[in-house]
Amino acid sequence: MAEAAAELRARKLVAFPTETVYGLGANAFDARAVERIFRAKGRSAGNPLIVHVADAAAAAALAADWPLEADRLASRFWPGPLSIVVRRTPRIPDVVTAGGPTVAVRVPAHPVALALCQAAGVPIAAPSANRSLTVSPTTARHVLDSLADAVDLVIDAGPTPAGIESTIVDLTESVPRVLRPGPIAPGDLANCLEREVLVATGAAETSGPARSPGQQERHYAPRARLMLASPQEAAAVAAKLLSAGRRIGGLCRRADEGGLAPIDDALRVVLPDDAASFAAGLYAALHQLDALGVETILAIEPPETEAWLAIRDRLRRGSS
Ligand code: TXA
Ligand code: MG
Repeated sequence: MAEAAAELRARKLVAFPTETVYGLGANAFDARAVERIFRAKGRSAGNPLIVHVADAAAAAALAADWPLEADRLASRFWPGPLSIVVRRTPRIPDVVTAGGPTVAVRVPAHPVALALCQAAGVPIAAPSANRSLTVSPTTARHVLDSLADAVDLVIDAGPTPAGIESTIVDLTESVPRVLRPGPIAPGDLANCLEREVLVATGAAETSGPARSPGQQERHYAPRARLMLASPQEAAAVAAKLLSAGRRIGGLCRRADEGGLAPIDDALRVVLPDDAASFAAGLYAALHQLDALGVETILAIEPPETEAWLAIRDRLRRGSS
């Protein structure tokens, strides 16, 4: 941990596990270190980074004003997979916020991430540790496969437990708004705040202009073409692709396994029926099917309930 903290202070890039996905960290106060993140990922300069800190006080110190609602969310969900967008102080370099007036802050729950934030003594700007527009890494191996020559140090603590990126909520407008669905559902935020919480039109489910600068349409995409089908039509779609001679892989919940019956066992990934366990295995499954060299991944659409919102969001983005 001491070595990693020293690297961060020396303008190096350190990949580390969080409870969501692996992050590619740099000292958020060091603009040149943060520029290295953008180069390493091939990330557009218009896409701001989440800043990771050890506690809510450190987060509030990066905000121009820290609303009461930020306090309520922080005491309920931090450390945890929630990023809160607030107005920023000028202490944060422009490169971190893509020049914008707001900053996303988060206190991660993973013990390694938390210890690194404490040891670093500076806020850590960290996007997911993958090349831009590819599937986020949930293991240290995924990080090396994507960024081996660009990262100075990788801390390997095994697979990340939540498996999908944090929920992002924007508190800078009159009504709180979820910019990216994640492990914490909009309803949980609404319950905590005792008020309505909107879900951004940038989310893949709805139409209209993107609210979060980074919510580009095609995102989280595997190399293979990702295709979605309903549980009812999946088996017919699979059979048709196979009869056209295509090498396809499959991905579904155990409850919908029948829809993948036409696909070779070795190329089917069947994940648990509960949303949290499915999310934990989702990206590893996409990485695995990519590694098996399939041309198309046929995924069966999960249920339309709030528990599955973030998973539907990632699957739809990956397939758009
Ligand atoms: O779980 C996570 O959030 C992981 C781990 C490493 O913490 N990080 C992550 O970072 O997913 P990244 O860069 O892959 O996604 C960050 C998203 C982008 O869509 C970006 O546009 C959005 O957060 N974002 C960052 N700052 C923002 C801001 N000030 N306003 C609105 N959206 C912001
Ligand atoms: Mg990312």
